[in-house]
Amino acid sequence: MRILVTGGAGFIASNVVDAYIAAGHEVAVVDDLSCGFIENLNEKAQFYEVDIANPKVEEVFAEFKPEVLNHHAAQISVPLSVDDPVADARVNVMGWLNLLEGCRKHDVKRVLYVSSGGVVYGEPQKLPADETYPIQPESPYGITKATGEHYLHFYSKQAGFKYVTFRYGNVYGPRQVPHGEAGVVSIFIKALLAGKAPTIFGDGSCIRDYVFVGDVVRANVMALEKGGNVALNIGTGIPIDVNQVYKAVQAAMQDQTPALSGPPRRGDLKAIYLNAGLAEKVLGWKPETSFGDGVKKTYEYFRDKEQEA
Ligand SMILES: NC(=O)c1ccc[n+]([C@@H]2O[C@H](COP(=O)([O-])OP(=O)(O)OC[C@H]3O[C@@H](n4cnc5c(N)ncnc54)[C@H](O)[C@@H]3O)[C@@H](O)[C@H]2O)c1
Repeated sequence: MRILVTGGAGFIASNVVDAYIAAGHEVAVVDDLSCGFIENLNEKAQFYEVDIANPKVEEVFAEFKPEVLNHHAAQISVPLSVDDPVADARVNVMGWLNLLEGCRKHDVKRVLYVSSGGVVYGEPQKLPADETYPIQPESPYGITKATGEHYLHFYSKQAGFKYVTFRYGNVYGPRQVPHGEAGVVSIFIKALLAGKAPTIFGDGSCIRDYVFVGDVVRANVMALEKGGNVALNIGTGIPIDVNQVYKAVQAAMQDQTPALSGPPRRGDLKAIYLNAGLAEKVLGWKPETSFGDGVKKTYEYFRDKEQEA
C-alpha cells in the first residue's frame, strides 16, 4: 500500500513507519521537524518537510498519491494548549482539516486518526473508560483531539473513505519524548542515567494507562486492513500510578536512588485507564508487553543511545 504518515519523525509515528516499511509498504512522511528528529526517520521513507497547516500539503497528496493517510502529527503538549489554545488549534484543527481536504480531493481510501483516550473522556466517574463514555475533554488539547474525531466522521461520509480513530493511553517506549502524555517514564530514566534524583509531584497517586509503543504499532498495522468508521481505545486497562512507574524504572535500572518530592501539579487528572475490549473485537488487538518489560526496553534504548553519543 502507499501510506502517507504525518509526524513520522516523532516518537510513535517513526515506530509505525518502521513497521510499515518492514511489511513492504511504500511510505511517505510529512513532518515539519518542530518536535521530531531527522534521525528517527526511516531512510526508505520519502520525506516531505512541511507543516500540515501549510496549503503546500496538497502537493504531497498530488505527488505521492496515498491510498492510506495515517495521521500522527500534532501539537501534543497539554500545558502548551492551556497557555495558547490558538496555537494548539492551528495544528490540531486547521492542520487536520488541511489533510482531510487532501484526502477528499485525492481519493484516499482509508484514514487512521490518532486521538487520545487519556484526555477525551476528561476525569471519568467509571473506570476503565470504554468508548461509550461521554466525550468531555478538560483541556484545549483534549478539545482539539475530540474535534478532530468529529471532522473525520464528517469527511468520511463526504468523501467515502473508511476510518479508524485510535484513542491511545499513555504511550511509552524507545524514542519517546519527555513532553508527551507518558513523558514521565523517559523523564525518570533520563534523570537516573544522569545520576540525578527525579522529582515526583504531589503524592504520586495520579493513575494512567501506560501502553508500550510496540503494541501501539501493531494496532496501526492491523487497522490497515480491519475496522471501519470506529473509534478504538488502545490501552492495557491496567491502572498504574506515578509511584509505581518510578518503582518499575528503579527495578529496570537496578538503581535505588530515592525520588525527590515536589508540589502537586495543577490540572493533572487523578485517574484514567481504558477498556480496550472493542479493539480486540474489531482488530483482534491486545496489548502484549508487560509494564516491567516495556520499561526495561525503554531504559535499554536510552542507555544505548547515551553510550553511542
Ligand atoms: N505519547 C502519548 O502518550 C500519546 C497519547 C495519546 C495520543 N498521542 C498522539 O500521538 C501522536 C504522536 O505523538 P508523539 O508522542 O509521538 O509525539 P511527537 O512530538 O514525538 O510526534 C509528533 C510529530 O509531529 C510533528 N509535528 C508537530 N506539528 C507539526 C506540524 N504542524 N506539521 C508537521 N508535523 C508536525 C513533530 O515534529 C513530531 O515529529 C500525536 O497525535 C499525539 O497527540 C500521543
